Amino acid sequence: MSAPVDPTRTEAWRTLSGLADSLRPDLRAWFADDPSRAERLTFEAAELRADLSKNLITDEVLAALVDLAGEVGLPDRIAAMFAGKHINVTEDRAVLHTALRAPEGERLAVDGHEVVEQVHAELAKVYAFADRVRSGEWTGVTGKPISTVINIGIGGSDLGPVMAYEALKPYVKEGLEARFISNIDPTDLATKTAGLDPETTLFIVSSKTFGTLETLTNARLARAWLLDSLRAAGVIDAGDDQAKTAVAKHFVAVSTALDKVAAFGIDPANAFGFWDWVGGRYSVDSAIGTSLAVAIGPERFAEFLAGFRAVDDHFRTAEPTRNLPILLGLLNVWYGNFLGAATHAVLPYAQYLHRFPAYLQQLTMESNGKGVRYDGSPVTTETGEVFWGEPGTNGQHAFYQLIHQGTRLIPTDFIAFANPAHPLRDGDTDVHELFLANFFAQTAALAFGKTADEVREEGTPEPIVPARVFSGNRPSTSIMAPALTPAVLGQLIALYEHLTFVQGAIWGIDSFDQWGVELGKQLALQLAPAVAGDEAALAAQDSSTRSLITYYRTQRTR
Ligand code: F6P
Repeated sequence: MSAPVDPTRTEAWRTLSGLADSLRPDLRAWFADDPSRAERLTFEAAELRADLSKNLITDEVLAALVDLAGEVGLPDRIAAMFAGKHINVTEDRAVLHTALRAPEGERLAVDGHEVVEQVHAELAKVYAFADRVRSGEWTGVTGKPISTVINIGIGGSDLGPVMAYEALKPYVKEGLEARFISNIDPTDLATKTAGLDPETTLFIVSSKTFGTLETLTNARLARAWLLDSLRAAGVIDAGDDQAKTAVAKHFVAVSTALDKVAAFGIDPANAFGFWDWVGGRYSVDSAIGTSLAVAIGPERFAEFLAGFRAVDDHFRTAEPTRNLPILLGLLNVWYGNFLGAATHAVLPYAQYLHRFPAYLQQLTMESNGKGVRYDGSPVTTETGEVFWGEPGTNGQHAFYQLIHQGTRLIPTDFIAFANPAHPLRDGDTDVHELFLANFFAQTAALAFGKTADEVREEGTPEPIVPARVFSGNRPSTSIMAPALTPAVLGQLIALYEHLTFVQGAIWGIDSFDQWGVELGKQLALQLAPAVAGDEAALAAQDSSTRSLITYYRTQRTR
């Protein structure tokens, strides 16, 4: 693979620096002078419609950003990813989450394997399993059908499934519930299993590596909970044989390491696989989504995959000037590298998307939180920004104050759907319309603000005028779609996957490794003896760590 191009040494970078220096954002004037601004700057990808017009961009800025993509070789990077080249260089792996949603029959040979064929063979297993659980054919050890599936996983083996399950709640089969256990804080498992009937509960242990401390610990705790509860109810005896049967009926696994699944005691016949070319944070559309497939059913899951695919096609084929993931990725580069933004807010006006910002945090920050490029050299500019957010309108009554009137530039993505999941009325008022009125109002207020004269015209006493002025020129992108369906959710996820890749490609980084999470994991294991009371191990720690552990040990009473 050729060395990354230093983006800061391109012609386009110089142009963009000049444009940033001379930029005097005036969205009021820009809209007044150009009645076609909204139309010109609205782009579509599948069912997604994104209005970029309330961003701090001019035609020159957009053109220079697109030039930057060309100068760093983005089209080649996109082609390399889709072709299965080993663009995850530090792990020497292909990056092929796009193959997870390729239609049956498509051919793609990577490292000697027909990957799309493998994907569909595994999907067929997941779908058959989902059908068996949903129909009641798959039963627990006492012959009762399953009513609760619990996914045990963390990071990419949790955030995608839980986010999508929450987002697609209206599509979940009645009488079925999914729960998600991720944290090694025992509270998570204790509260998620509280009150559950073990006879109707099925655990899905999801771990790409099947070596993650949290997941394996929780899986062992879950197994103990299952067996203890079944024994306490007199349903199985104390022996190993019935325990084995119970585990086989109540545990399945998803992993790339099927040997470790077997070693844990889960029958490999009840395991679903995926491949090292699927990154954890890009895996919700692999067998990692089994809990979702059970909850919403194979047909809806297939629609979800088709949604991803529609945006993949757009990303691969649309001209950069109309390519939504490319434009949004470039826009983030503009704000982060030229206008000094350090964070990016994602504000879904859809309560069902309440876990979407958390999901995006892993997707974007684990991907682009890097300080070296894919050839090991230091990056030449700032990289990944902090993603954060909460659903509107809740956020309006919490942190929007800072977005509207604070001193920092915070680019925002507003996401909304024309059709409500629950069309309720409050007397004569269609509540979804009231909700969307807030969505529309917020982006207008951010963009156009309120001048001191306008504040005065409202009769505001002079001393209070400054506090009530809104500067405007605060950027937002409005992403809308007809409804939050499985297909649209797939489109949204693919949009963010690809814009994350675009940003990484501009910076020349490997967006698909995550070495930054390793040190903490190693140290936790090293520290465990000191926490458990090993005095020599405690003495070997730095003074702060020693004093923290000592405090813990003196305070622990139960
Ligand atoms: O925290 C790092 C990480 O490797 C994530 O990238 C991954 O999604 C998560 O841990 C879980 O890993 P696994 O699926 O192997 O249990």
